[in-house]
Amino acid sequence: MDLLLLEKTLLGLFIAIIVAIMISKLRGKRFKLPPGPIPVPIFGNWIQVGDDLNHRNLTDLAKKFGDIFLLRMGQRNLVVVSSPDLAKEVLHTQGVEFGSRTRNVVFDIFTGEGQDMVFTVYGEHWRKMRRIMTVPFFTNKVVQQYRLGWESEAAAVVEDVKKHPGSATNGMVLRRRLQLMMYNNMYRIMFDRRFESEEDPLFMKLRGLNGERSRLAQSFDYNYGDFIPILRPFLRGYLKICEEVKEKRIRLFKDYFVDERKKLSSTKTTTNEGLKCAIDHILDAQQKGEINEDNVLYIVENINVAAIETTLWSIEWGIAELVNHPEIQKKLRDELDSVLGPGVQITEPDTQKLPYLQAVIKETLRLRMAIPLLVPHMNLNDAKLGGYDIPAESKILVNAWWLANNPAHWKKPEEFRPERFLEEEAKVEANGNDFRYLPFGVGRRSCPGIILALPILGITLGRLVQNFELLPPPGQSKLDTTEKGGQFSLHILKHSTIVLKPIRS
Ligand code: HEM
Repeated sequence: MDLLLLEKTLLGLFIAIIVAIMISKLRGKRFKLPPGPIPVPIFGNWIQVGDDLNHRNLTDLAKKFGDIFLLRMGQRNLVVVSSPDLAKEVLHTQGVEFGSRTRNVVFDIFTGEGQDMVFTVYGEHWRKMRRIMTVPFFTNKVVQQYRLGWESEAAAVVEDVKKHPGSATNGMVLRRRLQLMMYNNMYRIMFDRRFESEEDPLFMKLRGLNGERSRLAQSFDYNYGDFIPILRPFLRGYLKICEEVKEKRIRLFKDYFVDERKKLSSTKTTTNEGLKCAIDHILDAQQKGEINEDNVLYIVENINVAAIETTLWSIEWGIAELVNHPEIQKKLRDELDSVLGPGVQITEPDTQKLPYLQAVIKETLRLRMAIPLLVPHMNLNDAKLGGYDIPAESKILVNAWWLANNPAHWKKPEEFRPERFLEEEAKVEANGNDFRYLPFGVGRRSCPGIILALPILGITLGRLVQNFELLPPPGQSKLDTTEKGGQFSLHILKHSTIVLKPIRS
């Protein structure tokens, strides 16, 4: 009797083991997942890796788990790619499969669940929005139409700095004035508008709401509710604030800018093509029934986040590196003086004639990438990558910062050395012609704003260096370049005081 029971138990155990092996084989066949730390139930790897998945922490994980690894953040899959070949696969070869964007509970609020362009999935809506935005924003004609405006905004910065008490002795927080300049550069394109000063009440309101939006969206504070749906009720307060900021912002765009422009256009008797600003083109598309009013407002929202801060951060990083490397600053000034002539102010066409200026900009974007993980990508369906299975709707991060700062691919990458782009990396451009260097991404979802960002960077940095010696504040030998990262952004932590000594009166 006992023997029979033992026999039955052993048989049962044997069958159970065979079934378990078969199931695991079958599952293994269906999903060969990328390597990564072993997840625990419910939380996945979240407790192990924490919230702050910035480019440096993800680089450390890549060193441990390889060029492709998987993190399970609660219910969400996060795949991180850290080699030029895999970046090519995601952004180029399988650009359609990985061309969508992940959203999350907060981005869903700010984009009306993907009614915008930047954060929408890859498909018909995205194609239409990108097409509609191209003529008014992303062509050389736009650069030619607005470059005089950008040059005069940079000249106004130079004049204001000269007037600023103590700028040449105790210094000033230059970023504040440059922020006004960037708003003016973009609001000229969008609405043919500019703000007179940093104290302009409308500018202050706009800057405040955009700042809130960036802070709320880039924060890690809401991760728990995004990763673990049962915790979402605890996020109610946070999401309510997001809703309020979103409503106020969209209303501001509508009441003070879009509707104002509509009024102005309706009072004109003739339309003059040459005087059209971007929103006129976008409103034409709305009139033709291609997009609705919400889409128009989300285009304005997208430009406010994608264009202004990214370019401003890059200008700020460029200035910090020039202050901390006076020899590079001097070499740049010498180039400007010798190519343009002393005192001749740089204009947009000149930027092509100034290789060292171009190299300084490229090096800034390499070492201090404003969007070091690109904007997160996503695969709508199950996909294959690097020999692994990637479950549908995984968030795909390309660690572009590590691609451009990996000593296996770059000579002394930790050094700020523009010369590399004139010497061993002379063929590398910012437009993604080399998968080690993708400050603007590459492929379908790459940054269309590169065509505006590069000349604005050139004009701004060029004019500052031509007119001032840029120095750290008294008593300091260097500027603090501690980084501050967000969900996928990177900027300088401290907006430092800078001394600006006029070169010529
Ligand atoms: C130095 C300044 C800038 C940097 C470093 C930058 C970088 C980037 C990056 C890395 C992406 C994501 C690429 C990807 O996910 O594969 C992106 C997307 C985008 N950028 Fe920029 N950008 C800058 C300036 C601008 C400007 C000035 C504009 C507009 C005038 C702009 C508009 C956009 C838009 C609309 C997208 C989304 C494209 C899409 O999803 O199809 N950016 N940018």
